[in-house]
Amino acid sequence: MFQQLKGLDPDPILGLMAKFRADPHPQKVDLGVGVYRDPSGNTPVLECVTRAEQTILAGQTTKTYIGPAGRAEFNDAVTQLVLGPGHPAVRDRRTVTVQTPGGCGALRVGAELIRAAAAGVRVHVSDPTWSNHVPLLGSSGLRLERYPYYEPASHRLRFAEMLAQLEHASAGDVVLLHACCHNPTGADLDPQQWETLIGLVQRRNLVPFLDLAYQGLSEGLGADAAAVRRIGAAVPEMLLAVSFSKNLGLYRERTGALICIAETAGRADAIRSQVLQIGRSMYSMPPDHGAAIAARIFADPALTSSWHRELEQMRARIDGMRVLLAGQLKTARAEGDFDFLSRQHGMFSLLGVSGQQVALLRERHHVYMTSDSRMNMAGISPENVGYVADAIAAVLRC
Ligand SMILES: Cc1ncc(COP(=O)(O)O)c(C=O)c1O
Repeated sequence: MFQQLKGLDPDPILGLMAKFRADPHPQKVDLGVGVYRDPSGNTPVLECVTRAEQTILAGQTTKTYIGPAGRAEFNDAVTQLVLGPGHPAVRDRRTVTVQTPGGCGALRVGAELIRAAAAGVRVHVSDPTWSNHVPLLGSSGLRLERYPYYEPASHRLRFAEMLAQLEHASAGDVVLLHACCHNPTGADLDPQQWETLIGLVQRRNLVPFLDLAYQGLSEGLGADAAAVRRIGAAVPEMLLAVSFSKNLGLYRERTGALICIAETAGRADAIRSQVLQIGRSMYSMPPDHGAAIAARIFADPALTSSWHRELEQMRARIDGMRVLLAGQLKTARAEGDFDFLSRQHGMFSLLGVSGQQVALLRERHHVYMTSDSRMNMAGISPENVGYVADAIAAVLRC
């Protein structure tokens, strides 16, 4: 059976992680892997998570199945956190929220739901987009198309081109949008651009699929969900993949949710039955531990404030490193203007150099980033920023 099976190349990010681990250089810097790091390079367990976890473990009396939709109190709290209080879709009982194994699980279940509802539609994804979007959505059999989004060399959004392309999308097509902290570019639409886009989505009858993996890491929990809330109130149907990997640091606990907005409460019931069946056929039920932690944090005011403080620290650290690296690149007389780093949001930005220059950074200077020159800004620290800036400046002179 397996004689014909070809080996696949390793996932580019996992392959990069392995190369980094094998590099013995004392000054090596990892800007590749997409996890938050504190100034010492650790990805810490948040204090609110540890406290919630201790209470859960002390009180847990069973590990019996929780059901394909996951925890009801988690799903309710996530809907509130993301859509905000009094959202019209919630008020009209047009939302369906199911717990999923991380944001990836939500994207995959969402893709299967789209295929079950309208197998022929196209899903329009930004160029560039997070590399895993393509297999997550494409392996359900949906056809993907790219819309122009960002020009890495000039560090600018291609908003006019994006609109022009989406103007030709067919009615019913799906548009995947990064709600905030666009991965890999760090370049988000401003409120005016979101409004223009919403107008287009309404006019062309497109179905938005929002990916919210970094809520709280751009400007704040409410501000980062503003576009999601606004679109959710403006269109009859929407999908939304939520992840708590980054903002609660629950990466390996696989904690996420899929929120669907339907045109009517009756349609929402049909969607619920479908997403439960899809989850059941793929993984049966989502893992509980991360959602139990998150639900406890959302329900306990002391834990909620502790989370908000810790999230604020993560956000401030990333923003601080953006400013610091942009400044150090000036000091190192790196060719080009790097002020865009301070204007962008979230963990990632594209340096905007060639794959060859990325390889030089890795081989000569032991600075690791993905081949598209995506840098994880949380990999920068006051200790390594000078080294990284000098390495970039040297490579830009080559
Ligand atoms: C844009 C984007 N969407 C979704 C995810 C999903 O993350 P997870 O499945 O770990 O929750 C990530 C994680 O890196 C991401 O960057």
